[in-house]
Amino acid sequence: MIFIKGTLTSISLVIAAVTAVVAYPAHQNLKKRQEDDDGEVSNGLTDVVSWDTYTLKVNGERLFLFSGEFHYYRLPSPGLWLDVLEKFKALGYNGVSFYFNWGYHSPKKGVYNFDGVRDVQRAFDAAEKTNLHVISRAGPYINAENDCGGFPSWLMNMQSPARKSNPENNANCEEWLTEIDKFLVPNQITNGGKIILNQLDNEYSANTDPAYLEMIKAKFIADGMIVPDIYNDANMLQNFPDGPADIYGWDNYPAGFDCSNPDAWPNNRSTEYMSYHASTNLNQPAVLWEFQGGAFDPWGGPGYEACYQMVNEKYAKVYYKNNYAQGITIQNLYMTYGGTSWGGLSKPTVYTSYDYGPFLTTEHFVPEVDKSDIILVDGRAATDASAKFYIAQHWLTSSKDLDEFHIIIDTTDGTFTIPRSSKLILNGRDAKLLVTDYDFNSQHLVYSTSEIFTHQDAGSHDVIIVYAYEKEEGEFAIKVKDDTKVKVETNNDSVKSETNDGILQLTYTHPNGTSPIYISGGAEKDLLVLVAGYQSALRWWAPYLNEKEGKRALINGPYLVRSATVSKDDKSTVAFTGDIDETTDIQVVLPDGIKAITWNGEKVHLKKEDKHDIYTGILEFKKPDIKYTDLTEVTWKYKAADRLSTASITPHDTWPILYADDYGYHTGSIWFRGTFNGSSEITGFNLTCHSGLASAWVVYLNSHYLGGFDVGNQAFTNLNGTLIDPEGENVISVLLWTTGHEEDGVSDDNYKQARGFTKAQLLGVSNQTIWSIDWKIQGNLGGEDLADPVRGPYNEGGLYGERNGWHLPGFPDNEWEDITIPENKNRTGVSWYRTTFDVIIPDGYEVPMSLRYVDDTKTRYRSLLFLNGWQLGRYANDLGPQTQFYLPKGILNTAGKNTLAIAVVAIDEAAQLGQVILEPYKTLQSAIPPVDLVASPGYDARQQ
Ligand SMILES: *[C@@H]1O[C@H](CO)[C@@H](O)[C@H](O)[C@H]1NC(C)=O
Ligand SMILES: *[C@@H]1O[C@H](CO)[C@@H](O)[C@H](O)[C@H]1NC(C)=O
Ligand SMILES: *[C@@H]1O[C@H](CO)[C@@H](O)[C@H](O)[C@H]1NC(C)=O
Ligand SMILES: *[C@@H]1O[C@H](CO)[C@@H](O)[C@H](O)[C@H]1NC(C)=O
Ligand SMILES: *[C@@H]1O[C@H](CO)[C@@H](O)[C@H](O)[C@H]1NC(C)=O
Repeated sequence: MIFIKGTLTSISLVIAAVTAVVAYPAHQNLKKRQEDDDGEVSNGLTDVVSWDTYTLKVNGERLFLFSGEFHYYRLPSPGLWLDVLEKFKALGYNGVSFYFNWGYHSPKKGVYNFDGVRDVQRAFDAAEKTNLHVISRAGPYINAENDCGGFPSWLMNMQSPARKSNPENNANCEEWLTEIDKFLVPNQITNGGKIILNQLDNEYSANTDPAYLEMIKAKFIADGMIVPDIYNDANMLQNFPDGPADIYGWDNYPAGFDCSNPDAWPNNRSTEYMSYHASTNLNQPAVLWEFQGGAFDPWGGPGYEACYQMVNEKYAKVYYKNNYAQGITIQNLYMTYGGTSWGGLSKPTVYTSYDYGPFLTTEHFVPEVDKSDIILVDGRAATDASAKFYIAQHWLTSSKDLDEFHIIIDTTDGTFTIPRSSKLILNGRDAKLLVTDYDFNSQHLVYSTSEIFTHQDAGSHDVIIVYAYEKEEGEFAIKVKDDTKVKVETNNDSVKSETNDGILQLTYTHPNGTSPIYISGGAEKDLLVLVAGYQSALRWWAPYLNEKEGKRALINGPYLVRSATVSKDDKSTVAFTGDIDETTDIQVVLPDGIKAITWNGEKVHLKKEDKHDIYTGILEFKKPDIKYTDLTEVTWKYKAADRLSTASITPHDTWPILYADDYGYHTGSIWFRGTFNGSSEITGFNLTCHSGLASAWVVYLNSHYLGGFDVGNQAFTNLNGTLIDPEGENVISVLLWTTGHEEDGVSDDNYKQARGFTKAQLLGVSNQTIWSIDWKIQGNLGGEDLADPVRGPYNEGGLYGERNGWHLPGFPDNEWEDITIPENKNRTGVSWYRTTFDVIIPDGYEVPMSLRYVDDTKTRYRSLLFLNGWQLGRYANDLGPQTQFYLPKGILNTAGKNTLAIAVVAIDEAAQLGQVILEPYKTLQSAIPPVDLVASPGYDARQQ
């Protein structure tokens, strides 16, 4: 029995589209589009990038854009940007999306820095080298879980609302766009660069002002940005579908951001993208400008392991394939490389098919399926070929059931119910993308119940790699010219073959590994079918030999394959570069004429497997001689920050406003120093702290510790008779440890929330005045006039040690006390620890290093970690969850000496630093491109 579920057909899509035009007539006049006869649209400024209802087109060629998000500013080592983008390329991405962070480049109005770690041209150069298309997203607003959502902190003192069109805000935005456009304009594809799309602001979906978007668009165009501009709605919210941006799309985060129960998936996979697209912007491709590729985790959260479990490879299979089922042809995964403050590089994932070609122009249809009450199968039919695609998933996204099912396929070779003689299984939390009636190389596939990883013309024969979970059955059928001439050879006993009516059908069980099946006599060329189990498929790589011609080498085994090139001198050798983490067995499939390979420059001995045109070899892992200091044994230099309250600046007249940003202090710790004349009346004082999540503050009265607190109100009572001097001057000292500013996600100026105190009042005073306490305030040295422009506006705060360069290389700490940690001593206040350590990693190896705090949570403290002067970690021992901090090569000198400084702010009186450990994440024998050492100015430079 066949039940049909699902109501949408391509006919209903067309009807919905017609209604859409009627529903949104008001915006039509905003359009500035030129549409030619076959539905192709361009923005009137260039037709190098154009589009129609199906896809983007670049130089007239259709593009299925699969890009990943990368934030250069979260990896302050430009030498590593190429490494990251090589990994994007290896994973099958053909694009990268860059956010540009205004605040990262501008510490003060009118001041911009694009040098050193801020040299964005190097990000473009890395995209050029790896041949990845670029989506530029330069704001002005980016959100991105950044301080002020990427606004510079100085914007907090702007009187006018941000993200609205008004003279003051327009002038500020235009100031930024002028600076960043100097980099964007020459890097457009129309000027020989990689940018194909450019975003206007980000998720501008609440409290909107169309004139604001118009202002940004006009500025980009005035500066010379001519590639299509894009708009990302925060979800399917119908904001600005008809401009001013050229291409509308939306963002979606179906798994949400609470990683605390990673296994409990919501049943919210969208089946509405298709109808929404049809009714909203059918003359443009269906786009997900941001689709969830991970989750961020707050202070005290469950940690990134849990987030990885939630947004794991099963999530990827189910949700990404669903997007394809819905006709999405531009998908940007957010995040793909999260950087030092969160996330990590995703694992190689087989859902990343290397062949988007056939998916370019398809229409949805509803295939006939048994079990259609529990299994949803979407069909997509190519408009320009016979190929059809079937995306099968459980109706209930969270289902963990394993179900067998059949599909009726209608092909040019006949109608079949597949599988015909094996089992087709849909695992819980899996989705399958099956292909039928599909021409590839010189073959014609009738159908396959295994998924296709990639296929290649290898010269004398063709190759296709198919996969499914180990032990699942598979069925693979191709057309053959003559039933009697077909020969099938394999060592895999599970393979059965049968030829009838011009169709060769193979059935097999997916092995733990990859097994070759060789078919001769079927088509013009022989066909090598490589049947892979899932784990083995994860380690198949398809690096380009020639990207223009779509020629790839196929190699299985290594941890990472970065590139494959045919040597200019010796055309019979392919040089592979990549990384291995252990001695690795490899299988290689090479085009005709290639007889040998090298791996990272060294010859690999290859053995030919029977007549299967597949070679095997071994990549030997040689253990490197890595040296790094055991930090538990080093001597630290220790200093207490007891002179802190004397080194303050004089505030201006608007007392008693106690908001740090009003005084130009925007980052990290802030000291507040209040003085009042004693009297017999005064019994204490009352403070209310306003700051972000995980902030903390510590209070002293006349140098006596009164406690450490979370944000909120705290009254200090009954201090008369003990701490308050009724006759003389009394001093309240407050250290506030801030954790950054809020964002402006819904355009309501939320980013201007104060960091400081909303109330500071004496208690017991009958004639209360609001000026009863005089205050001084102190943040980072120089405020917006940075003492350290190289490391920039987010590197240092107002701790005495920070202001005095105690975190910098070369600070003379010889007078400091020698200690080892952990100490059996209670340290209150702010403590500083300094040491130097060595790391030696030989060439040809990649050993990403980290610093890990090992501690308990008995007494609360906050800590800053500085490597060679760069603040690479904010640690809260009581909150976590992060205890391990990445020390990126480039900042980390891997050929010698490094300086480590750790500041500890005791929140509870007797807090002390536990152990800190230097430790590698992984040891790879690697072809990582050379990473230059980032300039790390020392203490001497600061003195000038
Ligand atoms: C595949 O084989 C390897 C090595 O023999 C084994 O460790 C692994 O568990 C097997 N995996 C599956 C899915 O059977
Ligand atoms: C301190 O201020 C808070 C917040 O305004 C108030 O609720 C509380 O009663 C005050 N405490 C004392 C002792 O006055
Ligand atoms: C503190 O002041 C309060 C209110 O004036 C008074 O009742 C109390 O006795 C004083 N305590 C001391 C120890 O002086
Ligand atoms: C209260 O303080 C104000 C300002 O300091 C002063 O002018 C006024 O005389 C005081 N009133 C009393 C009752 O002490
Ligand atoms: C540190 O302080 C804690 C809590 O006040 C106390 O129990 C412990 O004995 C102190 N340790 C030292 C070495 O003073």
